[in-house]
Amino acid sequence: MRHYLTELDLTAEEFRAIIQRGSELRKQWESGSCQPTLPQRVLAMIFEKSSTRTRVSFEAGMTQMGGHAIYLSPNDTHLGRGEPLADTARVLSQMVDVISVRTYSHEALERFSENATVPVINALTDLLHPCQLLADMQTYLDHRGDIRGKRVAFIGDGNNMCNSYINTALLLEFHLSFACPDGYEPDAQILARAGSHSSRAASPAEACTGADLVVTDVWASMGQEEEQKARELDFSGYEITADTMALANEDALFMHCLPAHRGEEVAAEVIDGQQSVVWEEAGNRLHAQKALLEFLLAQGS
Ligand code: CP
Ligand code: NVA
Repeated sequence: MRHYLTELDLTAEEFRAIIQRGSELRKQWESGSCQPTLPQRVLAMIFEKSSTRTRVSFEAGMTQMGGHAIYLSPNDTHLGRGEPLADTARVLSQMVDVISVRTYSHEALERFSENATVPVINALTDLLHPCQLLADMQTYLDHRGDIRGKRVAFIGDGNNMCNSYINTALLLEFHLSFACPDGYEPDAQILARAGSHSSRAASPAEACTGADLVVTDVWASMGQEEEQKARELDFSGYEITADTMALANEDALFMHCLPAHRGEEVAAEVIDGQQSVVWEEAGNRLHAQKALLEFLLAQGS
């Protein structure tokens, strides 16, 4: 039985196999020939934070594969009334085949997974967003081939997305150059583990120069809404504009996990421009996670 709490729960070979399968599943979906590969399998989805893409992609994916997904929010389950996460993990494991969890604390997710007897998927924590990385890497693969040896720039907050990019640079052997203001650095342990696969640039311009892929994310993540105004000041100069993109390689792609704030972390002309693949990236959440579910549910069966 395997969990997917971090990118590093997979080997590089497994990660690559899952995104390749995601590409295959996208082609099947485009030609209207999805196969019900997970009949009667049930996914329980716990969301302690908002979601558009993650919820819909998991739910649509399970339906397309002949299974079912159940959305659970703290408001209408006993989670919101104090039933411990560990007890919830044990109970859900008696009823469903796989569980996804979007929550704040990564340690809480780890505790949950230790008490579950079915695979647990990280649907975003404050530390990591590994499902998004499957979709991003599938999108890169589809457009440009293997990312090994390429240069990726992450501009902005050293948040869950930045940490996940650092993990993935180590796993898939690309170089991640990140630019963030002082006080907004990524997780020190994650960074140390990635060694020479990741380094901090002195400025967004330095990070983007020669990049094959440019990535950003919101300046205030879910749970940081009250810091929005202060962050807008601290992140001044970190907006990705056409001038920043011009420093990247000519065929560089632009990605953003969404939701985006035009005029803050990214200019409208970039996110809505020629180099942006954000809509396909969002769409690939569906296909990459279907491949992940197939992988996790095939283990031990
Ligand atoms: N990118 C992403 O995870 O989007 P949602 O918050 O809408 O799920
Ligand atoms: N960093 C963002 C990602 C949203 C998908 C957040 O955690 O809110």
